[in-house]
Amino acid sequence: MSVMSQKLRAVDWTGNSLALIDQTVLPHRTETIQVRDVDGLVDAIQRLVVRGAPAIGAAGAYGVALAVLEGEREGWDRTQVLAAVARIRAARPTAVNLMVCVDRVLTRFDEGLDAVLAEAAAVQREDVGANRAMGAYGADWLLKRVAADRPLRVLTHCNTGALATAGWGTALGVIRELHARGQLEVVYADETRPLLQGSRLTAWELVQEGIPHYVQADGAAAGTILRGEVDAAIVGADRIAANGDTANKVGTVGVALACAYAGIPFLVAAPTTTVDLSTATGDGIHIELRGEAEVLEWSGIRTAPAGSRGHNPAFDVTPGRLVTGLVTERGVLEVSAGELPGEHLR
Ligand code: MRU
Repeated sequence: MSVMSQKLRAVDWTGNSLALIDQTVLPHRTETIQVRDVDGLVDAIQRLVVRGAPAIGAAGAYGVALAVLEGEREGWDRTQVLAAVARIRAARPTAVNLMVCVDRVLTRFDEGLDAVLAEAAAVQREDVGANRAMGAYGADWLLKRVAADRPLRVLTHCNTGALATAGWGTALGVIRELHARGQLEVVYADETRPLLQGSRLTAWELVQEGIPHYVQADGAAAGTILRGEVDAAIVGADRIAANGDTANKVGTVGVALACAYAGIPFLVAAPTTTVDLSTATGDGIHIELRGEAEVLEWSGIRTAPAGSRGHNPAFDVTPGRLVTGLVTERGVLEVSAGELPGEHLR
């Protein structure tokens, strides 16, 4: 285990502000921004300064403390503080962790700032523990399930590492665990258009860890899988419905379809805070639609002709019947074989 994966904290409480690694400027610059108020946090979440379902959950948890402190400075009453917290909770719609973690910390709201901070710290600590457990469960399952007399070749999409969580990583945590056990040959990291979480962030984390990898265009994934160059795909999730339907970064469902066609495992690794048992199926998941410029421009320069419109859903939904295994901190559910989260995680 490298020092980097232990120390990297996408979200860090400093005592009176939230320190966020600015994920919009990685990998070329490693900068931290200090968020001191609710407007700053909402902006950071919406611009993807902090991103990844568990990381925005942790940021939202500490956001309750930021709202309390700002309320003290500005003389807000209880209603105004709670309205500010509601804005944080609604900053992005798809990752349920944001709502779950804010709501959890709010249960301590009336006990005061210290209790709010203690709960937010528990959210953060528990996420790291969940990631470690997922790493072990996921690696065990893959090594048992994939009959290979050599280390595994794994494909992943988006970024699910220490940057996307409170530490260590979900799908990338499983990949780290395989590497630590000497059971990983190579990672195919999809670049993840349009904001390049794969080529900018996953590749950056893999470089720090010395894990062999290729960055490939998202459009290359299906061909790589069908050519037999991949033993399994493993991704994270932003919200998982009771029937196992999984919202994750746009492009994920194409990976799952290719895995099903090729007959290789498609794993989702996510803490139980990402499972939304109140949503029956993927149809009930609100998919964030982001601004057109993200797909019509590249690095601030217009690439599509004037007159083109952009369609920019940030996530897609993979049907549960394509999810071979859902790895949580409690173990692996074989969703496509009928082990549905709604029946096993209540
Ligand atoms: O838009 P993003 O970068 O926040 O999307 C992130 C993802 O889709 C991740 O795969 C998901 O949140 C899991 S992170 C452990």
